[in-house]
Amino acid sequence: MMTEAVEPIDHVQRWRDLVAARREQHDAVCAAQGRTTDDYWARRAEGFRKFVQEAGRQADPFIECILKQLRPEDTVLDVGAGTGRHTMALAGEARHVTALDPSAPMLGFLREDIESRKLVNVDVIEGGWPDAAADAPEVDVIISAHVLYPIEDIVSFLQAFDRKSKRLCFLHLMTWQPWFDQIQLWETVHGEARRPQPTYIDVVNVLRQLGCFANVEIAWTEMPRSFDDIDDAMSRFAESIAVGEDEGRTTRLRAALLEQLTQMDDGRLAFPDRRYPLATVWWEAGALTAGD
Ligand SMILES: C[S@@+](CC[C@H](N)C(=O)[O-])C[C@H]1O[C@@H](n2cnc3c(N)ncnc32)[C@H](O)[C@@H]1O
Repeated sequence: MMTEAVEPIDHVQRWRDLVAARREQHDAVCAAQGRTTDDYWARRAEGFRKFVQEAGRQADPFIECILKQLRPEDTVLDVGAGTGRHTMALAGEARHVTALDPSAPMLGFLREDIESRKLVNVDVIEGGWPDAAADAPEVDVIISAHVLYPIEDIVSFLQAFDRKSKRLCFLHLMTWQPWFDQIQLWETVHGEARRPQPTYIDVVNVLRQLGCFANVEIAWTEMPRSFDDIDDAMSRFAESIAVGEDEGRTTRLRAALLEQLTQMDDGRLAFPDRRYPLATVWWEAGALTAGD
């Protein structure tokens, strides 16, 4: 008997479905709490800053990958720069870096660092991609780390990204689901499995569908997952797990964290296994030939 033909996958549609399903789940939980996810990054900015500071104590696989091809005379655009860890790391290696992000609180931390290091070759654009693409300069190298996961219109994002660069395009993404999903914090708090977000393999497939054969480099890294104490851990997960003000949800999150965190020699709390593979996806600009 002949095997049935295997249906081809529309990777752009699959991407959209993944993003929409996860967003709807998060929106529904927030709506039940009488709020929206609009200020997600404003609420997470301070915790994310701590995460980035801890990450900064070890080599950054994304920067290492970019530096292999970056030239001192290059200009760089960092799309979704956040608190600016990659912008700051590249400021000393490139002629000029532009950081773009829609979140004023996230950019506030970057502005403080630019000021304190008296950098004159970094500027900041407050806006989202691709809407703010017209405000950004054309550059030699364009980069974006951990930004794509909630972007539903992936084609417009990637096309504008590819067109803005004259030479190279770099994306950095997770290979698995976020750590807090892997240890099932959402499930513990809300009683249902967290819907998955896209990973690097999904964007590689989307790029392929748009005519671009991207390169992938995987690097294992020690993820920063330590906290001053349980209250610090609670505040850092509160937003991604959408705990809100509810006592039951707060108690369940606290119990799940206490069960999984262990005390380190310096008294701080950490998750025991912090090794995680991260992916850098890169290609030569102008490779997206399909999708218009
Ligand atoms: C996980 S953080 C990553 C920040 C930084 N790239 C890093 O790796 O440290 C995601 C960032 O993407 C930003 N963001 C969300 N939607 C965006 C969009 N449409 N265009 C650009 N940035 C966006 C958020 O404001 C947030 O600062």
